[in-house]
This record gives sequence, structure tokens and C-alpha cells, in this order.
Amino acid sequence: MVILGIETSCDETSVGILKNSQLVANLIASQENLHSHFGGIVPEIASRAHLEKIAILFNCALKKAGISSEEIDAIGVTNEPGLKGSLMIGVSFATGLAYALKKPVYHVNHLHAHLAACYLNQNISFPALGLIISGGHTNLYLLRNHTNFHLIGKTRDDACGEVFDKVGRMLNLQFPGGMHVEKLAQKGDEKKLKFPVAYIKNSLDFSFSGIKTAVYYYILKNGIKNAADIAASFQKAITDSIIMKINDAINMFEVKNFLFGGGVIRNEYLRKKITEHLSKKGVRPVICPPDLCTDNGGKVAILTSYIISAGKKPSPYKILVYPTK
Ligand code: KG4
Ligand code: ZN
Repeated sequence: MVILGIETSCDETSVGILKNSQLVANLIASQENLHSHFGGIVPEIASRAHLEKIAILFNCALKKAGISSEEIDAIGVTNEPGLKGSLMIGVSFATGLAYALKKPVYHVNHLHAHLAACYLNQNISFPALGLIISGGHTNLYLLRNHTNFHLIGKTRDDACGEVFDKVGRMLNLQFPGGMHVEKLAQKGDEKKLKFPVAYIKNSLDFSFSGIKTAVYYYILKNGIKNAADIAASFQKAITDSIIMKINDAINMFEVKNFLFGGGVIRNEYLRKKITEHLSKKGVRPVICPPDLCTDNGGKVAILTSYIISAGKKPSPYKILVYPTK
């Protein structure tokens, strides 16, 4: 079976192809250079760039996979959540293609797909817990099976990646700041500074804006002479706060597997600390492979394959039209 996955929810245009459960193509056209000098993503620029790239990427993905469009059995596309104009490009392209090829199209949740990236070549035992940490979301799920995601916790303010990006900006690093903060942190001392770690009692919700504000006031007062120590101490505070909630979740739900996805989970320090902690607790961490952590069509194709196996109905051949206000 050949499944095409399309992802255009934010600033990455991506097409992935899953053939007999193996990812045979997963091409990503990043728009980082278009947005970096604005210090954030400009939605109008993002949707126009998706429109320019999507058909080219589709043809390149077919070539990479060594298949023709007629061999595609089903198409999956991210339809929520994300930037409305960006989502429309992917959904319109997928729907048009499905209609032309007379194949089914499946609408896929962007965040669920981040966790589905962990399914590739892995046997997951359910129920499982799953945490997605990305630029726009920090969501904790209880998974009853491969396609049943029950939201049990989320951030009450900023998303974790958003805070990495904002601290990156305070340290004069390039946008998006996450990976640059991590690089800088490697040269710093994480014990040098103590940033507050937010902890919401009797809840599986997260809060990250306090750490961001603490870093802001520290820099306002002291400048960024010791940028590496700031980055390392900030990264430690964020990691500690995530691990405290992971701990609460495994105490509340009896699970054997804990899945992790989303752009921030590319962070090597976070991956190491999570692995160490869960291993001590007897829970197997299933952490998304680094190349599948950020937005990509491959994860959409993987989730689509499980949606099909679960016997779910395809989505209608209907283009999404969002209200403009
Ligand atoms: O999942 P993703 O590609 O897009 C969203 O759905 O938001 O995540 C992007 C986020 C950005 O905030 C980026 O700075 C962060 O992931 N990120 C990282 C690292 N690599 C990417 N954050 C911390 N450390 C990293 N190495
Ligand atoms: Zn994402």
C-alpha cells in the first residue's frame, strides 16, 4: 500500500510517501529564511510559499520513491490545527489530487501526527502516554490505541518551543531559536543561574511563561555577557518542569510506553534527561527520530495508514474555505 502525506500547517511545506509501512520519501521545503528577519512567521508569506512549492515537492517525492502518481492508494493531509491560509493550500492540493486520481483523502490532526511519527518501526503497547512539544503547542495525551488521542494536559500560557524561540531572540540568536539555544547551552554552566520552574498542582497542565519572564528580567538587569550560562540554565529549568509533569502523568496512569514528538524533542539534552528519568521508572520512552520531529509529510502518511487500518471513513472531496475575519 502506498500512502501520500501532505503537511502545510505552518512554515514547512512537506510531502512524504509511505510504501508498505516504510517511509520511502519525506521531503521538506523549509521557509525559515523567508521569516527569520521578521522574528516570527508571517502567515501571508507562509501560505504563498506553500503554493509555490507544493506541486514541485510532490513530483520530487514521487521521483525519490520511484513510483508514479497512479500507484498512490490514499492521501492524508493535515487539516488542523495550524495557520488557516497555510492549511488551505495543503488541503486544496490533496483534495484536487485525490479527486483526479479517484483515491480517498483523509484529514489528519497535525498534533496527533507528531506522535504518530513514533510508530515507525516500533511496537507500541496501549494505553500509552504521549507528549507533543512544538512551537505552537504543548499537549499531553492518553492514547488508547494508534488513532485514539485523549487530551489530558496542555500549556496554560506559552508553548514550550515558543519560549525557546523568545529566549533565543533575547540572546540575539537566529529565529527559530530552539536549536541555537541548545547549541549555546552546550558551552554554558546550567547551575550558574536559577530560573523559576512553574508547577501547577493537581493538574497535568504546563506553564512556561514564568521562565521566559524570569530570563527577560535577568537580561534586562545583567545583559547577555554570560549568554551560554543563561541558555544552559534556561534549558535546565524547562527540562525540569517537563520532567515533573511526566512524573505526575506516570503516577496517574499505568502505562508501559511514553511517546514524545514535536520540534522541541529534537533537543538532545531533553531527550537524554527524559530517557534517564523514564528508564529509572520502568517506562519505555519512545522518542520520535530527530528527522521526523519537526513538521513533515511522513508523519501524516504514518497516521493515515493507522486511520485506514482502523476502518475510518475518508473525508469528503471538499475544499476548506475559512472565514476571512
Ligand atoms: O513541531 P514544529 O516543527 O512546529 C510546530 O508545530 O510548531 O516545532 C518547531 C519548534 C520551534 O519552536 C523550534 O525552535 C523548536 O521546535 N526546536 C527546538 C529544537 N529544534 C527545534 N527547540 C529546542 N531545541 C531544539 N534542538
Ligand atoms: Zn508541528
